Amino acid sequence: MRYTLWTDLRLAPNADPEQVIEDACLVEQAGRIAWMGPRHALPAQWQQATEEHRLGNRWVTPGLIDCHTHLVYGDNRAQEFALRLAGASYEDIARQGGGIVSSVNATRSLSEDELLAQALRRLDALLDEGVTAIEIKSGYGLNLESERKMLRVARRLGELRPVTVRTTFLGAHALPPEFAGQTDAYLDLVCDHMLPTLAQEGLIDAVDVFCERIAFDLKQSERVLKAAQDLGLPVKMHAEQLSNLGGTEMAARYHALSTDHLEYLDEAGVIAMKQAGTVAVLLPGAYYFLRETQLPPIGLLRKHGVPMALSTDSNPGTSPCASLLLMLNMGSTLFKLTVPEALAGVTRHAAKALGAPNISGELSIGARADFVAWDIDSLPELVYWMGLPRCALVVYQGIISRD
Ligand code: NIG
Ligand code: FE
Repeated sequence: MRYTLWTDLRLAPNADPEQVIEDACLVEQAGRIAWMGPRHALPAQWQQATEEHRLGNRWVTPGLIDCHTHLVYGDNRAQEFALRLAGASYEDIARQGGGIVSSVNATRSLSEDELLAQALRRLDALLDEGVTAIEIKSGYGLNLESERKMLRVARRLGELRPVTVRTTFLGAHALPPEFAGQTDAYLDLVCDHMLPTLAQEGLIDAVDVFCERIAFDLKQSERVLKAAQDLGLPVKMHAEQLSNLGGTEMAARYHALSTDHLEYLDEAGVIAMKQAGTVAVLLPGAYYFLRETQLPPIGLLRKHGVPMALSTDSNPGTSPCASLLLMLNMGSTLFKLTVPEALAGVTRHAAKALGAPNISGELSIGARADFVAWDIDSLPELVYWMGLPRCALVVYQGIISRD
């Protein structure tokens, strides 16, 4: 059976600067890693490769994982950004019918192909940086037809490009204008109709809800988690972003894969996450873009050993961002993550938040051969540079997808 040998590389199998293999080699067969280790220890059975690639002593890490995105949406909100620069707050704009709802109007009005074309530009920017798996949420459709359209676009992105896409249903992202004043009626639609229908169509891998004073309160959010649980779908939550409603503790009771944002999280929430194995997804792009000043409780998450992931939160309102590498830099500068923490945040901890079978965010024998070769002298450079492309080569399931 054919196999490919990758040699002349420095390997960081867990993206951890403390655990590296100098002068390493890696054997890929049928899209998986058949062997990896120091060159001198390569077993005889792998010495006669069908193909060999020398990487010029480049650093190799697992492919990057962006575990929280709203990549599919119509148009942009630069005008709203201008209003914020002139003094309006994000919450003011949302209360006046702008914000998420303006993206809902744009998303509803575009065809599937138009949405796909817009999202592809953002996806390609991420893939150029070494992303090999991504989560994509719905949540700008807010009716059956438009949520379906978004999720179908997300699935098509995964078919068109060398990347694993995990879809998350975020029907409970905001109250659509036609349901103003009828939150419970909208949640009936989300829980009893949209969610089961789209799950049945195979469009949903996980379910998310925006638990916040400008979105859904604790009780309303729980309805969504419960509906997901009844369908056997894993859950996530946008929680404690603008205030502390206690969403995280509740999500932990539903064994959430992750709770995300978390600026206003308290220690009880951190402990609940630890006990449930829930990942803390930190989103420095939204923190920065909203000029938030309340930091997520990094020290407490660290103290209690809660895995921390970093993601772009790519979305039109709070993080118009298509660079996961920039989030590495912001995660360390703004949130004070160390280099190993930041790198774990876009690899193995992001994989845990994704909850996808086959994706570990680590390179090991038997793991999927999704990896990146970097033009850098040391791993901290991945966190250090801002806007300097250093990705030399991306391999997705054993095949070179970018070089
Ligand atoms: O992750 N927090 C809620 N959702 C998005 C923002 C969505 C928007 O403003 O369009 C977020 O920040
Ligand atoms: Fe988000």
